[in-house]
Amino acid sequence: MKTLPPSVLLVDDERSTIVLMGAVLETQGFTVTLCHTAHEACCLLDSLEFDAVVTDVIFDGSSEGENVLARCREQQPGAVVVLMTGFPEVDAAVAAMKCGATDYLRKPVDGIVLAAMVHRALRERKLSASRGKLAFAEMVDIISGMVANTIERVDPYTAGHGERTRRYSRILGQKFNLEQATLERLELAAIAHDYGKIYLDDLGFLTKKGPLTPEEYREVQRHPELGARMLGDHPHLEKVCQYIAEHHEKWDGTGYPKQLHDEETSLPGRILGVVEVFDSLSTKRSYKDVWELPKTVRFFESQRNLAFAPELIDVFLELLEVHGEEWMQAPARDLEAAGVEMEN
Ligand SMILES: [Fe+2]
Repeated sequence: MKTLPPSVLLVDDERSTIVLMGAVLETQGFTVTLCHTAHEACCLLDSLEFDAVVTDVIFDGSSEGENVLARCREQQPGAVVVLMTGFPEVDAAVAAMKCGATDYLRKPVDGIVLAAMVHRALRERKLSASRGKLAFAEMVDIISGMVANTIERVDPYTAGHGERTRRYSRILGQKFNLEQATLERLELAAIAHDYGKIYLDDLGFLTKKGPLTPEEYREVQRHPELGARMLGDHPHLEKVCQYIAEHHEKWDGTGYPKQLHDEETSLPGRILGVVEVFDSLSTKRSYKDVWELPKTVRFFESQRNLAFAPELIDVFLELLEVHGEEWMQAPARDLEAAGVEMEN
């Protein structure tokens, strides 16, 4: 749908000035209505809608611009109002700002500067109008980022792991036609899947060089259930916690913590399990090197019906054919961006 150019009501009793200024505003993408008296402007505001009103403050010695501002605030509270004022009237303009003007410019006003000011004010107005709708999604992103940062703080080698896992989970989930609400829960679970690690008794295991002892490994294996439990019991988080609890289970029942197998785990939980393993293999850790893509592909093929459900492997391998090389590079990029030095 084509968007209409923003409309401006331009009010000033200096006719030649506003004709010129109106022409400049039109070259800057506005439709302009010119008006020479405050009274006429007020009448127009009663009958027509404008995105912005630009008005002189003083008309024939009296500050009728204030009337235009008041009428505009009353009739069209969402419109941007810019006042044009001579030097001695700046105080009046500042007072008018307190009454709801968006901004003011001192005369002589440059049409280009005015156009830029109005465009900026309209952008800001649009942004604040949409904030209510976006607030929840934005908040989820912000909180997700905080959770990811918390996990990455206790294990810096996982920089970007949560965000990448989220992205791959969404793409794989879309391939299985998961509905939107399930995809969103899966994304949240992907961001927070290792949240339980911050509650382990000894965080030193996470950055230990070399393999873990059996005791240490048992301790680390507590993290899926710890994460699911510590995230809370809000009804909206029920499925999210389930997927987190399932992310280290395996299709053949050899995973942890509950040794669930086949479809005892949810599809989103299984999706999370696949992409989590992929991202770990493509990441250099203190105890392992990055796997090459062919070796990674062979590994996933070998785990069909073992660690992973066969149909999941089929679809994931198709994705790796398209995205594999790029996804293999992503962890090194994120580690570098986070300033994490890998020791050899
Ligand atoms: Fe994990």
